[in-house]
Amino acid sequence: MEKKLIHLEVNGTRHAVHCDSRKLLSDALREDCRLTGTHVGCEHGVCGACTVQIDGQLARACLTFAVQAQETCITTIEGMAAGARLSALQQAFHECHALQCGFCTPGIVMTFDAYLRENPQPCAVEVREVLSGNLCRCTGYQNIVRAVLLAAERLRGEAANV
Ligand code: FES
Ligand code: FES
Repeated sequence: MEKKLIHLEVNGTRHAVHCDSRKLLSDALREDCRLTGTHVGCEHGVCGACTVQIDGQLARACLTFAVQAQETCITTIEGMAAGARLSALQQAFHECHALQCGFCTPGIVMTFDAYLRENPQPCAVEVREVLSGNLCRCTGYQNIVRAVLLAAERLRGEAANV
């Protein structure tokens, strides 16, 4: 299949990508943009490992063709920290031991980064409901829920930041 030149704007950086029209965004991010924080698990929209934000909205990168993401602003896990300073969610995941192997973590952080912008004061039930779209095979979900609630408190200014 003939390759085309497309441009993807990821975390504020423009990447030139030569790819065929059926190349998945998840593969383009990892192979062409060298941003391997977006993980690929099921490759059919179920596990949530590949979750990114496109123009601030959640998207499964394994269900999106790279060509569809032209003229958008893509945010991946690499865009979450400000230099060495972790985002509130990343810091809370670290403190609450909300990950083990970390395979699922980028997708979960991207999911709740978007969710907390719209829902700054979720309860644990709501967090669990949102979390049901992301599968974790090793941590169990209790600490992830704790981490999201802690990050939400901090983002509202109700808990001490480190
Ligand atoms: Fe995309 Fe599982 S790899 S949802
Ligand atoms: Fe290993 Fe979630 S921390 S899959």
